[in-house]
Amino acid sequence: MDRFSAVILAAGEGTRMKSSTPKVLHKILGKPIISWIVDALTTAQADDILTVVGHGKEQVMEHLDGKVKFGVQKQQLGTGHAVMQVRDQIGSSSTVLVLCGDTPLIGSESINEIYEHHKNAGNSVTVVSAELDNPFGYGRIVKDGSGNLLKIVEQKDATPQESLICEINSGMYMFEKSALLGALDSLRNDNAQGEYYLTDTVELILKGGGKAGTYIMKDSRDILGINNRVQLAEAAKILKQRVNENYMLDGVTIVDPENTYIEPGAVIGKDTVIEPNCQIKAGSHIGSECVIGPDTIINNSTVGDRTTVLKAVVNDSKIGADTTVGPFAYIRPNSDIGSHVKIGDFVEIKKSIIGDNTKVSHLTYIGDAQVGERVNFGCGTITVNYDGKNKFQTVIEDDAFIGCNTNLVAPVTVREHSFIAAGSTIHKEVPKNALAISRVRQENKEEWVLKRDEKRNGGK
Ligand code: UD1
Ligand code: CA
Repeated sequence: MDRFSAVILAAGEGTRMKSSTPKVLHKILGKPIISWIVDALTTAQADDILTVVGHGKEQVMEHLDGKVKFGVQKQQLGTGHAVMQVRDQIGSSSTVLVLCGDTPLIGSESINEIYEHHKNAGNSVTVVSAELDNPFGYGRIVKDGSGNLLKIVEQKDATPQESLICEINSGMYMFEKSALLGALDSLRNDNAQGEYYLTDTVELILKGGGKAGTYIMKDSRDILGINNRVQLAEAAKILKQRVNENYMLDGVTIVDPENTYIEPGAVIGKDTVIEPNCQIKAGSHIGSECVIGPDTIINNSTVGDRTTVLKAVVNDSKIGADTTVGPFAYIRPNSDIGSHVKIGDFVEIKKSIIGDNTKVSHLTYIGDAQVGERVNFGCGTITVNYDGKNKFQTVIEDDAFIGCNTNLVAPVTVREHSFIAAGSTIHKEVPKNALAISRVRQENKEEWVLKRDEKRNGGK
């Protein structure tokens, strides 16, 4: 297909982030800034994507490995220089979209609109612009009296008159490839910053007889560039709002969208209610008619229909339908909890299977266990799964009843329909239908308290 090749400029240092992480790898809703752009380009059906890397290139390349091609700009001598360095690696499409790696709000719909506009106008270059109340710092769009684009001037090179212009350069451009390559040949760095400015290609293309125009973004927020962590938070707020609105329009109730963080890629069923202060992370699949939260984190986990997860943390696990979890429960990786299960307060489950209709109501730790159906755990049950060196399995079969404050010293098996007396420490198999009791027999010393008191008060 011949649509457009994309070039993402991401070689700059991002000094203002004050970070050891490259700017474009800072995350919004769990996803690095540059990945928002790569995903938008992919959705907009870019023919191929070339990313220009420089500062922190190893990290950026590792993150995007397999998703884009890379070109390297060793020294950062300007945006024009960046494109010059990779000119031979730009894809073969006749149209080229150049954009920056730090503008994650540009969505695929806007990219499609820019492309359509560029084609319909028959431009050699279309500069994506926006009108800002405060244009300070941006390159300004200079037009003649009839609104024809003449050139772009950088803040540092602008005359006082030009500084008053409120239409700014977003740093995003659609080029006809031949016009771009021709202009790159003539770029010079005789400006205030001694850099090769990509923006100068506009004047060069016009001089060569090409047609240049602008595409003014309807929503100027879409071109918001991230230079510091204040702007990172600003962009995150906008993206969060967009993501949440999509879920709401799809039938999910979000009680407090301002304080709900749903990462891209999560799936949430209809009529599910997300209470305030929840984070639903990538890879999560939540069913219909669930109640999630308040104060819940669900990470890369599946939750069945009509399940409630209240004030809990769930990581890399599966929870069935019609189950309740929490408040104050911690479900750790590789747990598989069935349907109609109750996981109550202060319960931690790790790498365990819990069968349908089982109840773990309070203050219990279950780790490395395989638990059957209809098992009842008394308060304070502990699987003793670790001897300081190795982890061991506990197996509990269907219909077993585990009395309160039981220690199950693994490896150990509790057979079907057995009963463990409260306070027992179980270290060998409990047979089917048996009662296991393992605690010191109670001894009552009659009148002991009275005798003690007599001794204490003796002589008086
Ligand atoms: C640039 C534009 C300016 C525009 C603004 C929009 C130029 C000369 N100016 O200015 O008109 O209003 O973006 O945000 O293009 N980069 C490289 N190699 C370099 C220099 C930059 O890869 O040698 C990358 C950066 O990583 C960044 C992007 O290019 O992603 C923009 O660079 P930046 O220095 O932020 O440009 P601005 O001065 O903001
Ligand atoms: Ca910038």
